[in-house]
Amino acid sequence: MKKLNIGLAGLGRLGKEYGKNIQFKIPNANLVAVCSLVEEELAYAKKELEVSDTYSNYESMLEHPNMDAVVIITSTDSHAEHIVKAMESGLHVFCEKPLSIDIENCLKVEEEAKKHSNLIVMIGFNRRYDPSYVDAKKTIIENKVGKPFFVRSQTVDKDIWAPFQVSFVKTSGGVFHDFNVHDVDLARWYIGSEVKRLWSQGGAYRFKEFGDLGDADNTFVFCEFEDGSMALLGASRTSSYGHDTFTEIIGTQGKLTVGNPPSKNRVQISDKHGVRNECNETFYDRFKDSFLIQVQDFVNSVLEGKQPECNLENATKATIVTCAMTESFKTKGIVEIKDIMP
Ligand SMILES: NC(=O)c1ccc[n+]([C@@H]2O[C@H](COP(=O)([O-])OP(=O)(O)OC[C@H]3O[C@@H](n4cnc5c(N)ncnc54)[C@H](O)[C@@H]3O)[C@@H](O)[C@H]2O)c1
Repeated sequence: MKKLNIGLAGLGRLGKEYGKNIQFKIPNANLVAVCSLVEEELAYAKKELEVSDTYSNYESMLEHPNMDAVVIITSTDSHAEHIVKAMESGLHVFCEKPLSIDIENCLKVEEEAKKHSNLIVMIGFNRRYDPSYVDAKKTIIENKVGKPFFVRSQTVDKDIWAPFQVSFVKTSGGVFHDFNVHDVDLARWYIGSEVKRLWSQGGAYRFKEFGDLGDADNTFVFCEFEDGSMALLGASRTSSYGHDTFTEIIGTQGKLTVGNPPSKNRVQISDKHGVRNECNETFYDRFKDSFLIQVQDFVNSVLEGKQPECNLENATKATIVTCAMTESFKTKGIVEIKDIMP
C-alpha cells in the first residue's frame, strides 16, 4: 500500500489528537516527524506517538529527508506563514482552521499556492466531515426541505474552558475567528451564497477578562446573504452544562436540525432529578469522528491527486466574514463585506 509520510507541527490540545489519528488510525499514513515549542510535548511524542524525529524548530522539520506532507495544528497566528514555508519546501499541506485572521494574509497564501499547483493544500473545517452535518447537506442536495433561506448556528463551549480561552485569545484572534468561523463555513455551505452585510452584538457578561482583551464571552451576529438568505450565528464561552454546537437550517419546504439536544449519546436517564441526557464535555468529544475522517480525506486526496472541498478559497471566504464580524462587534454598527475588502 502506498503511504503518505507526514510531519506534524503543533502538539497542543488538538495536535496530540491529530498525532494519535495519523500514527495509529490512518492505514495509509506514517507520522515521521513532529514539531512543538514545548519540550514536554516532544517527549510525549517520542513515548506515546512513537516518533523518533522531533524538532523544536518548524523550519528544521521541513528539511526532514523523508516527508511528503505537513499537518499544521500550531497557533492560529502562525498558520499562514507555516503554510507558505511548507509549500516552498515542496510539501502538501493540511492546516487547521482558520487560515488566518487577516484577509491580506489569506490572499497572499492563495497567490503563493498558485505557484505550487502540484501541491494539495487543505484547511480543516471538520464539521463538513461530521456524519450528521454531511447528512444534512445530502438532504438539501436531494431537495427534501426546499431551498434553505435561514441558518441558525452556534458554537458553545463549557465554562471550564474559559481560563484556557483567555490566554488563547492573544493568538486566536477572538471568538468570531476562533468559534464562529465554523458556523460561517456551514452557513455558506448550506445556503450556497456569500454574506453581504452583518451586525454583531455581544459582551463579556460573565468573564470580564474577555472584555479586557476586546473580546466577548457571548455573541450573536445577524447576517444577510447576497441571495437574500439570512443567518443568525452565535457563540458562547459560558455554558454550565457542556459543549453545545447546534445548527438549524430552514428551507422553503421544511427544516433540518443538527445537534439539538446536545446529547452525548442516545441514553436517557430518569432519576430523582427528572428525565435527561448527558452532554458532551468538549468539542473533541462531540467531533472526534469528524477529525479522523477529515485527516483521512487529506491523506487520500494527496495520494489520489484530488483537491479537497475544504480549499484555500473557502477558508479565505470564511475569514472575510469573521473579519467583518469582529469589525462590527468593535464599531457596534452594520458592516458591509465590500467595505472591509483590501
Ligand atoms: N476545528 C476545531 O474545532 C478546533 C478546535 C481546537 C483548536 N483548533 C485549532 O487548532 C490550532 C491549535 O489549537 P490548540 O488548542 O491545539 O492550541 P495549543 O495552544 O494547545 O497548541 C499549540 C501548539 O502549537 C505549537 N506551536 C505554536 N507556534 C509554533 C511554532 N512557531 N513552531 C512550532 N510549533 C508551534 C505549540 O508548541 C503547541 O504545541 C488553532 O489554530 C485552533 O484554531 C481547531
